[in-house]
Amino acid sequence: MQLGILTGGGDAPGLNAVIRAVVRVTMRTYGWPAVLGIPQGFKGLVERLPPIPLTPYSTQGLINRGGTILHTTNRANPFQYPVDADTYADRSDMVLERAEELGLDALVILGGDGSLSIAYHLAQKGLPVMGTPKTIDNDIRGTDLCFGHLSAVATATDALDKLHDTAESHHRVMVVETMGRYTGWIALRAGLAGAADAILVPETPFDIDHVSQEVNCRAEGGAPFSIIAVAEGAQPKGGDLSVLETGSRVYQARLGGIGAHVANKLQEDTQLESRVTVLGHTQRGGGPVASDRILATKYGAAAADALARGERNRMVALHGEGLDTVPLDQVVGAYRPVPLDHPLMDTARQLGVIMGALDE
Ligand code: F6P
Repeated sequence: MQLGILTGGGDAPGLNAVIRAVVRVTMRTYGWPAVLGIPQGFKGLVERLPPIPLTPYSTQGLINRGGTILHTTNRANPFQYPVDADTYADRSDMVLERAEELGLDALVILGGDGSLSIAYHLAQKGLPVMGTPKTIDNDIRGTDLCFGHLSAVATATDALDKLHDTAESHHRVMVVETMGRYTGWIALRAGLAGAADAILVPETPFDIDHVSQEVNCRAEGGAPFSIIAVAEGAQPKGGDLSVLETGSRVYQARLGGIGAHVANKLQEDTQLESRVTVLGHTQRGGGPVASDRILATKYGAAAADALARGERNRMVALHGEGLDTVPLDQVVGAYRPVPLDHPLMDTARQLGVIMGALDE
């Protein structure tokens, strides 16, 4: 079977580890030919960029490497392909033509919600695909865990640890803005691991007055510093999502700014100086942590296994300890928020972490 593989949308730690695993299992277990790496995501198919033959030898040393050796792009949706700055056209037929020209029996797509949605629509048109759930945000439906997420959590946790030191030295409030789009998985996990005093997530609007009161209480109680983890998609009660940029120049609204808003408000409302640190793309870079290397490797192997079993148009998924596959139509079209009764939310509440409004 001739496989193609591409990485779509934003990068995440673990992409190279999945590529490596797909290639090794494809060739060593199943004896299929070298996998064709498609450069720059779907753009590589639309623009007929030369594929990169991938073998176990050419993918050596990849398990711990950040980014993606295949490169990626966000502005390459074949169904709305950018023709010039403001014009888009449907180029999906060109993807199918190119796949046929390359002799692809199936395309493995390492993607988040956007790329998996493209995969679903290409599958509807007849291209056999297999998805693997990639995103630091951990917001893909149908799986318990996306690769890349725990590495981003490790980066954010490390930042929280460092900010703790300087917050305590200076008696300051340190607000740390994490990524995560409309979900708070990164803020919640990193906030717990990094002992944040408050964790503000998009799943529940926060009451800034309540946060201020709690920060003041801590100061009165002998802790004149606080660490606040706020997800980029978090919103104050009665307020709006903080957006940096929208419009045709960006493929999706760029979120950001809530950290500065929270820091300014806390400085006004408490006797403490406040600072904000926006972690941004540091959460996307770097090599995957050990658990992500293992998860990515399992996903890559599972994708090859599923294709060998004849499965198509599905995504490999983790449920509990086990791997299986789910149909793409159960994955796309919605994201997976943190359930308000998630055990990690309960743990945070039990520990007395300020959760914005939930703990009132
Ligand atoms: O989906 C991953 C993610 O890193 C989000 O957490 C963030 O909102 C977005 O991508 C940033 O996208 P870009 O790299 O286009 O700025």
